[in-house]
Amino acid sequence: MRISGKDLSVKLKAEMAASMPSIEEKYGRVPHLAVILVGEDPGSVSYVTGKAKACEAVGIKNTTIRRDASISEEELLGLVRELNADPLVDGILVQLPLPKHIDENKVIETIALEKDVDGFHPLNVAALWQKRPCTVACTPKGIMKLLAQAGVEVKGKKAVVVGRSNIVGLPVAKLLLDANATVTIAHSRTENLAAVTREADILVVAVGRPHTVTADMVKPGAVVIDVGVNRDPESGKLCGDCDTDAVEAVASAITPVPGGVGPMTITCLMENTIELFLRSR
Ligand code: GUN
Repeated sequence: MRISGKDLSVKLKAEMAASMPSIEEKYGRVPHLAVILVGEDPGSVSYVTGKAKACEAVGIKNTTIRRDASISEEELLGLVRELNADPLVDGILVQLPLPKHIDENKVIETIALEKDVDGFHPLNVAALWQKRPCTVACTPKGIMKLLAQAGVEVKGKKAVVVGRSNIVGLPVAKLLLDANATVTIAHSRTENLAAVTREADILVVAVGRPHTVTADMVKPGAVVIDVGVNRDPESGKLCGDCDTDAVEAVASAITPVPGGVGPMTITCLMENTIELFLRSR
């Protein structure tokens, strides 16, 4: 079985779109997401285009600010500060990765906490790990919604997360833990990765490398969430981190790439933008 993030996204976006007229009537304007894209990285350009389209579908105002990769760190920080000060901007997203001469941490911590739509600000991350109210990063949030939609029971299950990034691996591990899974985080230095992944009832793979998880690494009946977005070096086609067809034959369910986690990330970004807007009213 394939878990369609696309179908769930369409449904959730339609629900948000339906709520927009009453939001506009009540508050006099719709939520506004500002996205900053530095450089021309094809993956980033494609994500940012997807975000703009989703805003249009939901009825959220979107401003995409594009800057050359040669922008200085100070100029970029200045741009973020301008958006922080703009009362008509509710969410600020700086597309990552940034060029090497720019300190990503500095940029992230300059975004006003109340406009941190990605949930990457250190205070949001701290709040997540202390189980306090916070803005939850979009991809982990989308993964939890997919599991719920697919009727996957998380409580008491063994979850293995492969990858320990700030954007996906670490926060999704915390959300799974909060949902009462027993969580293992595996990574590039894990010894005998296959033995670890074979223990998983729920396997989340967020590595960014094709063919990381093969069918023999999956326990029969497991639910597999593939977060990777890669180009297959042989076919040139978009692919995830898992050998989807082969894994599907062993697993009870897997998310496809494209059409799995990706659309849910963007949908949760819409949800976070609306949440920040409502919270600031
Ligand atoms: N690059 C890859 N994923 C993301 C994301 O969720 N947010 C931002 N800002 N950059 C990313």
